[in-house]
Amino acid sequence: MIVFKLLVVYCFLSCFLRFSAAIDSITPSHSIRDGETLVSAGGTFELGFFSPGNSKGRYLGIWYRISTDAVVWVANRETPIPNRSGVLKVTNEGDIVVLSNTETIVWSSNTSSAAKSPVVQLLDSGNLLVRDGNDNDLENFLWQSFDYPCDTLLPGMKLGKNFVTGLECSLTSSKSTENPAQGEFLLRINPHGFPQLVAMKGDKITTRAGSWNGLRFTGHPGLMPNPIFNYEFVLNEKEVYYEFTLVNSSVISRLVLSSSGILGRFTWNDRTHGWELYSTSQVDQCENYAFCGAYATCNANSSPVCTCLEGFVSKSQKHWNSVDWSDGCVRRTQLECNDGDVFQKYTGLKLPDTSSSWFNMTMSLVECEGLCLKNCSCTAYSNLDIRGEGSGCLLWFNNLNDMRVYSHGGQDLYIRLASSENDIKKKRHSSKIKQAGIIVASAILVMGIIILGVISYVRKKKLRFKGKAIRRRKEDMELPIFDLMAIANATCNFSSSNKLGEGGFGSVYKGTLQEGHVVAVKRLSKNSGQGLNEFKNEVNLIAKLQHRNLVKLLGCCIEGNEKILIYEYMPNKSLDAFIFDHTRNTLLDWRIRIQIICGIARGLLYLHQDSRLRIIHRDLKASNILLDESMNPKISDFGLARTFGGDQIEANTNRIVGTYGYMSPEYAGHGQFSIKSDVFSFGVLVLEIVSGKRNQRFCHVNDHLNLNLLGHAWRLWIEDKAMELTDQSLGNMCTLSDQVLRCVHVGLLCVQQRPEDRPDMSSVVLMLSSEILLPKPNQPGFYMEKALPEAGSSSTEREACSANEITITLLKGR
Ligand SMILES: *[C@@H]1O[C@H](CO)[C@@H](O)[C@H](O)[C@H]1NC(C)=O
Ligand SMILES: *[C@@H]1O[C@H](CO)[C@@H](O)[C@H](O)[C@H]1NC(C)=O
Ligand SMILES: *[C@@H]1O[C@H](CO)[C@@H](O)[C@H](O)[C@H]1NC(C)=O
Ligand SMILES: *[C@@H]1O[C@H](CO)[C@@H](O)[C@H](O)[C@H]1NC(C)=O
Ligand SMILES: *[C@@H]1O[C@H](CO)[C@@H](O)[C@H](O)[C@H]1NC(C)=O
Repeated sequence: MIVFKLLVVYCFLSCFLRFSAAIDSITPSHSIRDGETLVSAGGTFELGFFSPGNSKGRYLGIWYRISTDAVVWVANRETPIPNRSGVLKVTNEGDIVVLSNTETIVWSSNTSSAAKSPVVQLLDSGNLLVRDGNDNDLENFLWQSFDYPCDTLLPGMKLGKNFVTGLECSLTSSKSTENPAQGEFLLRINPHGFPQLVAMKGDKITTRAGSWNGLRFTGHPGLMPNPIFNYEFVLNEKEVYYEFTLVNSSVISRLVLSSSGILGRFTWNDRTHGWELYSTSQVDQCENYAFCGAYATCNANSSPVCTCLEGFVSKSQKHWNSVDWSDGCVRRTQLECNDGDVFQKYTGLKLPDTSSSWFNMTMSLVECEGLCLKNCSCTAYSNLDIRGEGSGCLLWFNNLNDMRVYSHGGQDLYIRLASSENDIKKKRHSSKIKQAGIIVASAILVMGIIILGVISYVRKKKLRFKGKAIRRRKEDMELPIFDLMAIANATCNFSSSNKLGEGGFGSVYKGTLQEGHVVAVKRLSKNSGQGLNEFKNEVNLIAKLQHRNLVKLLGCCIEGNEKILIYEYMPNKSLDAFIFDHTRNTLLDWRIRIQIICGIARGLLYLHQDSRLRIIHRDLKASNILLDESMNPKISDFGLARTFGGDQIEANTNRIVGTYGYMSPEYAGHGQFSIKSDVFSFGVLVLEIVSGKRNQRFCHVNDHLNLNLLGHAWRLWIEDKAMELTDQSLGNMCTLSDQVLRCVHVGLLCVQQRPEDRPDMSSVVLMLSSEILLPKPNQPGFYMEKALPEAGSSSTEREACSANEITITLLKGR
């Protein structure tokens, strides 16, 4: 009891002492040495000296107390102090100075007006103020760190420009996570013309969120009222700025410009005690500034992505056709100016670059059109504010650059065209009907001739080369069709010596066509209940999927019960033949492994998002990753689950296709599949590639828990020993530890238990290719095998863990 009382007293005293030690402000008679800190009154922020990552240099910075590596501001970002001799002081004039070795000034705030009795105070907003000690109104500050942001925008910080003082507030990226010095990227509100939010590299715009339309930035249709933060954009004679504030100050959120120029919003998750990526600036190609050049729109969901506006033609047909769109488009008919022009309305757009535009906040759209018509150099107009009926007037006086099409959330734009362009359109329409008649007639004639020719040619060929591989295009197939005979010949009648492997949907053989061309032949198992036409449709769709990281489908063969697919042949076989092989795994150095991981991620992203089909692979595993001669990974067997995986309902399937060890919990357990189940399999693959061990056969007994590879990786991760996961054949990886840890981290994020916690593939690609901060992973799904029977010998343990690696097809009762 006495001990208990003593404990209480001790706790009380130590808490009391800690509170009394934590101060939030200093005067010229105080200073803060390296090791001492200021803590804001509410305890949210702390100011002191720190070293980012593994670097040795000391910086004065402000960080969140709940997450001390989330540094939100750095004073001496360009001039680190080499040792712990740094001191923070405020001079009698009110300058904050950082001294090294107690005498050399490494940084100074250059406070403009002198104070009588200056106080430096760290506020609970994360703002560091210099104010006069006799004036308690915080608005009358003499200097504030919020005016000089680094790479982080905090709630209440204004990103923009003050026209009175000329002070501009912008975010600048850091060089890297270990070096807070100013990097290459800048996020600012460009005040020229109608102000717009842009990210820049040097003096070039890289991406443009665009102008404010009353609700959001025109290039950010996703910015919407939400439970976490409120936002506003202010534009008046005195200033222009964007600002966000927290809805509930216990849910913390911050915006960070990463060293690779990507803007990410992070939100603190109290439950997992980590930052979660709430949103990022998008990553599709249309986000690249003026990707399609002038007078063209970009649409990531169409092919090709760039299209000239109506009335415009590509400037250089040659470049345009070779998918170099940067030249953009030009008018088909020059403007006549003197009231000979009309306006064409476009909808669903991101408005073009406003850097040389003009605006008036009160004009109506009709007045706006009149004004544009009067000035020959005006090229387009639109409403300034789209709220309600719309108001205000925005005029463009230059080429229209950087537009894109949105399926929702886009805006109207009225573009000037020569009036003859309108007439031409009408004439074209009527003459089109006439022309169409002529075209159809001549097409029938030509087709007839071609068909006759083809028929006689095929007949002749067939007679001359009986049994030789004939590739012809049936009318209903866009894909070359191969003869069964030819395929049988090419594979020595599907002999076992030609067999390359056994996959989920049938066996794969190596085949040599008569021309000497080597192919991989997949003979699909005969148990699909699918009709011939559905099968043909599906194969035609699969054939359209083309990507560097997908195996190319060359043709197919359908005869009787046989359904065969012919793929390009990959000399290096599949990934599992390397990573799990004790001699061949030495061929995969870290550079190749990371290339393979990134390649698979891009291929999967294409299947999930970029292709028009949205394919879920459902059986992603090491043996389905083939390697070409330069060890580039190519995903195989994609799209087959769609054809063979049973019904097409998104959520549930009564037939489970997949491989133990790669299957996500919700899929194995409830047959629920989504793109997030593929993400899970991808995560397993990443951990396998890093560790060189199979998830399935891996066995690690720890505290009587039988951990698989995921469990083992998780255990190492939380014990901060993730580097121990790396394949021993990789040797010493110390110099690459950042990359390795990032891969393990991404892998663990992908195998999280809850599908909604897992990132999607576009985030994965982003996480792998940049240095953005990653959220903390939660415990993986399926990290434990069943508990072992008591006191098993080591051999039975191994048996309990291992299982064969054949794709399973389970029938589940409904
Ligand atoms: C810190 O470094 C400076 C020069 O780099 C040196 O003069 C000084 O003695 C060092 N101080 C400490 C405490 O190591
Ligand atoms: C303060 O002024 C000095 C000298 O003019 C300059 O080098 C330094 O960058 C300024 N510091 C800040 C924070 O503006
Ligand atoms: C803010 O969030 C905390 C914790 O989630 C909650 O207890 C509190 O009621 C919230 N406050 C408001 C004003 O919503
Ligand atoms: C905007 O237009 C209104 C109405 O036409 C006019 O009264 C006002 O002066 C204009 N403002 C500016 C800044 O041009
Ligand atoms: C047309 O607008 C441009 C840009 O605002 C301006 O420089 C020019 O003087 C205007 N021309 C006429 C005829 O008003």
